[in-house]
Amino acid sequence: MSHIRIPPGLTELLQGYTVQVLRQRPSDLIDFAVDYFTRLREARALTSSPPATPPSFSQDLELGPGLAVAKPESETDEDEDLDVPIPSRYDRRVSVCAEAYNPDEEEEDTDPRVIHPKTDEQRCRLQEACKDILLFKNLDQEQLSQVLDAMFEREVKADEHVIDQGDDGDNFYVIERGTYDILVTKENQTRSVGQYDNRGSFGELALMYNTPRAATIIATSEGSLWGLDRVTFRRIIVKNNAKKRKMFETFIESVPLLKSLEVSERMKIVDVIGEKIYKDGDRIIAQGEKADSFYIIESGEVKILIRSKTTTNKDGGNQEVEIARCHKGQYFGELALVTNKPRAASAYAVGDVKCLVMDVQAFERLLGPCMDIMKRNISHYQEQLVKMFGSSMDLMDPGL
Ligand code: CMP
Ligand code: CMP
Repeated sequence: MSHIRIPPGLTELLQGYTVQVLRQRPSDLIDFAVDYFTRLREARALTSSPPATPPSFSQDLELGPGLAVAKPESETDEDEDLDVPIPSRYDRRVSVCAEAYNPDEEEEDTDPRVIHPKTDEQRCRLQEACKDILLFKNLDQEQLSQVLDAMFEREVKADEHVIDQGDDGDNFYVIERGTYDILVTKENQTRSVGQYDNRGSFGELALMYNTPRAATIIATSEGSLWGLDRVTFRRIIVKNNAKKRKMFETFIESVPLLKSLEVSERMKIVDVIGEKIYKDGDRIIAQGEKADSFYIIESGEVKILIRSKTTTNKDGGNQEVEIARCHKGQYFGELALVTNKPRAASAYAVGDVKCLVMDVQAFERLLGPCMDIMKRNISHYQEQLVKMFGSSMDLMDPGL
């Protein structure tokens, strides 16, 4: 009688898949299987390239930045009960990659809410500081007010270290005022990788991915910050990121610029982007302004205009001339970030427009692998302008 030998790991592999099917109840089992096993393979490939900085606490789900399951800490224990044994080499990565957090299964949130009482004046300043924070863009009203309630004010002095690389993450910070240097130490070399200038936020990475702080943040002036504690951040922002991954995953996969990135790298992008909505005629970018964001068009159309040196409009200002149109899946606003110059042109919404927006720090951190493509496209801008306007370009310095 011949024996049928079950290959080691097969049972667990199929069990892992079955558990995810039962949890997520996909409408198409075959599509779900393709997706599940593809992610599993990608996760396995990643085991051979561990993150540069080893995670400090490993009880949970950290698999290198970008791969952590977006599960609030309060849920990890209960969820452990559902896990079936899986082959050890897949172990953690299986749960991280395959187990998208399912908001439909969300348990009633019973953790006590953190509330820091504020005066009306403080609340006003807080709202102003938070109005452009990308991580808050996809929150609903209730989530946003829970976040704002939990935030606390922190005054800082010049030279104060707000965050030290390698530490465990305690808070996320929104900048109200002040300038801050971002320093990264690698192989005993410390270098400045950027600055924050009176706006923006930092400290999200350690809280999102359960990793040690990835950079040191030092105040270079006296300033004021709003902090959000780790537990509230994970309960609201990280949970919301799981929804964002679901919402934007397919779109992000279709963006030509991002095609060469690994799935995990694209998911890191989704985690830090915010969605902004514009109406017909809204100016998204103004020529000559300082740049701090990068845009990908999620829907609608955007026109790019440059001011003419010689043609004036009715108000005596320089006439703007249309030089390009961008559509769904295309990007703009990269030039000023790459050249470190002011915006070379203005961008306006044509009809209703939705953009995914990334701040300059995330752009530099996450889009390095796409830089060649962007630079190649930038080299065509000059040609395009010369083709349109001749070699003696009748344009204000476009900053190329
Ligand atoms: P976190 O790792 O929690 O703490 C340091 C923060 O610096 C990090 O989150 C980011 O918010 C911010 N940061 C900005 N630029 C970088 C960068 N190039 N590398 C790492 N962290 C950065
Ligand atoms: P940035 O300079 O940051 O802001 C304006 C954007 O318009 C610019 O980046 C490009 O993304 C986009 N753009 C498209 N075509 C051109 C062009 N020919 N010259 C300059 N900018 C252009």
